[in-house]
Amino acid sequence: MKYVLVTGGAGYIGSYICKLFYDKGYIPVTFDNLSLGNKWSVKWGPLEVGELCSENDLQKLFEKYNFMGVIHLAALSNVSESVNNPSIYYKNNVIGSYNLIEKMIKFNVKNIVFSSTAAVYGNPIHSPICENHPTQPINPYGDSKLTIEKLICNYSKCHELNFVILRYFNVSGSDFSNNLGEAHLPETHLIPLALEAAHQNTIFKIYGDNYQTTDGTCIRDYIHVKDLGNVHLLSFEKLNSSKVNQIINVGGGKGYTVYEIIKYVKKITNLDLKTDVIKRRKGDPDILVSDISMSKNILSWEPEYSDVEQVISDSWEWYKYYKTLSQS
Ligand code: UFG
Repeated sequence: MKYVLVTGGAGYIGSYICKLFYDKGYIPVTFDNLSLGNKWSVKWGPLEVGELCSENDLQKLFEKYNFMGVIHLAALSNVSESVNNPSIYYKNNVIGSYNLIEKMIKFNVKNIVFSSTAAVYGNPIHSPICENHPTQPINPYGDSKLTIEKLICNYSKCHELNFVILRYFNVSGSDFSNNLGEAHLPETHLIPLALEAAHQNTIFKIYGDNYQTTDGTCIRDYIHVKDLGNVHLLSFEKLNSSKVNQIINVGGGKGYTVYEIIKYVKKITNLDLKTDVIKRRKGDPDILVSDISMSKNILSWEPEYSDVEQVISDSWEWYKYYKTLSQS
């Protein structure tokens, strides 16, 4: 059986990855503590509820399945929360990953695709950002991910561990035809919150307009969840065919300010969206835009769905569907 462990497989990105792997003939085994993920989104393989911080939960999991590799997504990923409560980030993200990788070594599971983040770069010195740009995270979330990256790289030098580390930029969009999309509680991300404010006719709060950017609001690079999912599949297949050890940026390769996103949200929803500028959120870098040449060269991957209007439009379709569902 082609079992692939997907930690965090009950989450927004993880559930879409499970679907893709299932379609390709793998059996994705979701390992999730369901603190942020949803049971209903695990539809393409077994769900094993457990904690990465529990060595015992992991031991039972690895005894039960003979995994051909691991897609490691499970993590806390809220920048502002990490600034206010760093300890849970180091515990969940770093200690959880350490336990997982130790178990991989023990059970001779050699391949890992690790979900990292553009937050490892901090405030970029140049833009777009390539993978050898200095890493100087400005928040504990980014630092926890960078620590795990280092752990994986160092382990791979003395154990049979092959890796692709994917540094995500801003993920949005949905696979609404398969009823998969963002359902975070609480929601903190720009696109779903702006759609919600437009739909509910509430005021959308912009975190600061005095950044060093064209209109003063932060610039981010948005990637469609379908494109992100494809990168995981390509990375996993690459690991199985050759021993690549690689760090790869995953973004759309273009940057948009918060005001630009708001303009697109108004256009796509055909609704008004009132905004108010409040003080900066802690830990937000001015600009994060990816150079995606590495993913093109190594994985022959190019974004197909990440046109920003398509990203917002698919998020909007999902928002309307999920709203109706949660009200019924
Ligand atoms: N924003 C607002 N108002 C909101 C929500 C967001 O103005 O209500 C702004 C943020 O300040 C930021 C931009 O919209 O400038 C995007 O914010 P998101 O919360 O959607 O995304 P982040 O850029 O904070 O987070 C992403 C990834 C993280 C990654 C981080 C790097 O989700 O994994 O980029 O800073 F770590």
